[in-house]
Amino acid sequence: MTPPASASAPGATALTAVPRRVDVYEVGPRDGLQNELRTLSTPDKARLIEALVQAGETRIEVTSFVSPRWIPQLADADKLLALLPRRPGVTFSALVPNLKGLERAKAAGLEEAAVFLSVTESHSKKNLNKSVAEAISTAREVAQTAIKQGLRVRCYLSTVWGCPYEGKTPVPRVVEVVKQLVDCGTYQLSLGDTIGVGTPGHTAELLCEVLKLLPPSQIALHLHDTRGTALANALVGLSMGITTFDASIGGLGGCPYAPGAAGNLATEDLVYMLQEMGVETGVDLGRLVAAGELAQELIGRRLSGKYLQAALGEREKQASRVRAGA
Ligand code: HMG
Ligand code: MG
Repeated sequence: MTPPASASAPGATALTAVPRRVDVYEVGPRDGLQNELRTLSTPDKARLIEALVQAGETRIEVTSFVSPRWIPQLADADKLLALLPRRPGVTFSALVPNLKGLERAKAAGLEEAAVFLSVTESHSKKNLNKSVAEAISTAREVAQTAIKQGLRVRCYLSTVWGCPYEGKTPVPRVVEVVKQLVDCGTYQLSLGDTIGVGTPGHTAELLCEVLKLLPPSQIALHLHDTRGTALANALVGLSMGITTFDASIGGLGGCPYAPGAAGNLATEDLVYMLQEMGVETGVDLGRLVAAGELAQELIGRRLSGKYLQAALGEREKQASRVRAGA
């Protein structure tokens, strides 16, 4: 049989040129806990963050300086920051929606702020009580003020693939908003699949356009796993040179102003895939499982992370074998 003209040489794959190192940006303590029914105590949040640090995570979004009326689960942001020991090489960041949030963040000694906005009008109104144009202007003002005060700033764009109120987001709409942010001084733009509707083809098409405006090092992917496509989309990003992926321990997470949004891509699932592909993350998978187990215990429910459940299941099987043999 004659092979098709496009067939690759034996052993060659589309993934031979993936980056050798990837940054995992942990959002569990923020994106995860903002959407859980159970509000953790401040010391329990600090324990979870410590477990993530012990696993080798170095970029951790620990909370939000948003209105406590909008997100009561994170109302203790100021107290939490006071409780967290700082370590060289570990950066704690938090969401900052406005200048009032920045004032609180600065007083709490935060080193990195994340401004955030949506590309769709309805989600913007629900999430920030602002139009997209107003939110762009606020994000730019907060970012520029924070940078002058010595903070590093990243920027999130929400509803990049789809919006809970408006459906699929057209790629040109995303491009239009990104163009208004490229010169705002933030070091990275994290593209959010807020409700987890992304698929590999859409992700490739979107990244093709955004990569015309920003280099891959300035783009992160923030993928929610509502429909099980987060890891597939991350793989597309990786193959297109993206080196920062947001993820959440155990797959905790969602957005309270995006009905149906589920947890983020689970950190352990991402790290497992990368490790097996020979891509370095600096994160220890065994210790990550310990952090996931702690998250599960604190939240009081089984989390959705697949690797976590497989590892815990395997451990339980081994323990039963030992019990049976004893
Ligand atoms: P607003 O009601 O329009 O605010 O909300 P305002 O400026 O009119 O102020 C109203 C009251 O809130 C005032 O208090 C302010 O002082 C207070 P009062 O005078 O009535 O007593 N206030 C604050 N208090 C503490 N900290 C602050 C603050 N700002 C105002 N920073 C606001 C506007 C932006 C505050 C509100 O909409 C808000 O906090 N929104 C945040 C919603 C949120 O956190 N959503 C989830 C995070 S986004 C996400 O999850 C998506 C992401 O993961 C990416 C993805 O998945 O796509 C990032
Ligand atoms: Mg999110």
